[in-house]
Amino acid sequence: MVERHHAEDPLARLRERTPVLGMLREAGAEDRPFEGATIGVSSHLEPKTGIFIETLRDAGAEVLCTPNDPGSVHGDVVSHLDAQSGITAFAAPEMSEADLDRAHRDLLDREPDLLATDGAELLAKCHADPELSTESVVGCAEQTTSGVSRARAMADDGVLAVPVFAVNHTPMKHWFDNVHGTGESALTNVMLSTNTVLAGRTVVVAGYGYVGRGVATKARALGADTVVTEVDSRKAIRAHMDGHRVMPMDEAAEIGELFVTATGNCHVIRERHVRKMNDGAMLCNVGHRDIEVAIGELADAATDVRDVEEGITRYSLADGRTIDLLAEGKMVNLTGPYSQGHPAAVMDTTFAAMVLALRELVETDGLDAGVHPLPERLDEDVARLKLDALGVEIDSLTDLQQRYLDAWQRDEIV
Ligand code: NAI
Repeated sequence: MVERHHAEDPLARLRERTPVLGMLREAGAEDRPFEGATIGVSSHLEPKTGIFIETLRDAGAEVLCTPNDPGSVHGDVVSHLDAQSGITAFAAPEMSEADLDRAHRDLLDREPDLLATDGAELLAKCHADPELSTESVVGCAEQTTSGVSRARAMADDGVLAVPVFAVNHTPMKHWFDNVHGTGESALTNVMLSTNTVLAGRTVVVAGYGYVGRGVATKARALGADTVVTEVDSRKAIRAHMDGHRVMPMDEAAEIGELFVTATGNCHVIRERHVRKMNDGAMLCNVGHRDIEVAIGELADAATDVRDVEEGITRYSLADGRTIDLLAEGKMVNLTGPYSQGHPAAVMDTTFAAMVLALRELVETDGLDAGVHPLPERLDEDVARLKLDALGVEIDSLTDLQQRYLDAWQRDEIV
């Protein structure tokens, strides 16, 4: 008989599935690029983030970590991290928004040298709060769409005082994490938490950026009839050419059975939409904040609001129809009852890019304050390491091919 042990280390199983981080961890333990530096990490405190944090610590950093969302804290991960030397967690499983604010301040009071953020919360806070300062901060690596757009807004306002690497905007992040990671993990959570099959259902996806495209593509692969709403004509035509029906939310509201918002914007689903929806329609969000569904308006439209199951809040309308909001409108793949975030294989490359971005910040002198693209060579390094880990080999250009591509008088080459 096989003897089963409960893992004492909640990260052990996932370490096997994050080989690129494993390689960077070994390299970092040898050359210790963060020796003497304090890194403030604000992200979903779940196992993959735990491995990222350990990787930074093994590379010499003192790591301070805090969640970016009170709903995505895994207590076992926090205890495991906090018990280790070189890591301090400012987090607890049942945090209120006020606790989270306090935790962010406590972390920033420790004057970190580097920030690694998901949503730019720590970055915005140390710039906005007169009691805090950006003085200690050498730079920041930001891993999500909303955080990069926030950092850009700070730069446009002329307040951004530190360099920020837009890790989200690398091909390796966009193509894999946003599309596949969020696409699969969001729908998995919806299906598990609602016990629903998506085949044959009408799924409305709001926003056809990287995330929305992933959600819509995966939903259709599962047999759903997919509808996309957009505000950008090029994204809308892309959705149309990819085979989804495209229409305004006012029309989609009448036919959808599951609505998934993925815009990074606010108030995409409003009271007037809800009033048109089918009985039993389900609403969820994968965008960064719980403001894509106008929850206050939903409550105003309802005669009764109650939690019917973990992660499902039912809004009853006066005519007897009910609408279910999943995960309180927060990111359903990260805060729903079955949430495990993105698969480890996906976060492996995202966090690897974050590690390389932080290394670049300490190793490069004179980076201006502002939002910078992550140098392409670093993104290529991540891809190469991932291919190595997967055992996948690719071709390389011959000298002749390179000369041909570099030339404009190509007939002289071949
Ligand atoms: P993106 O910028 O590529 O796409 C957003 C799309 O939404 C754009 O095409 C935009 O035109 C559209 N949009 C904006 N307002 C709209 C409206 N009112 N109605 C319909 N469409 C509208 O961004 P990306 O990378 O797809 O990310 C979307 C959101 O998902 C962001 O908030 C990002 O931070 C978040 N995100 C969440 C993850 C998760 O694990 N849940 C992982 C990665 C990103």
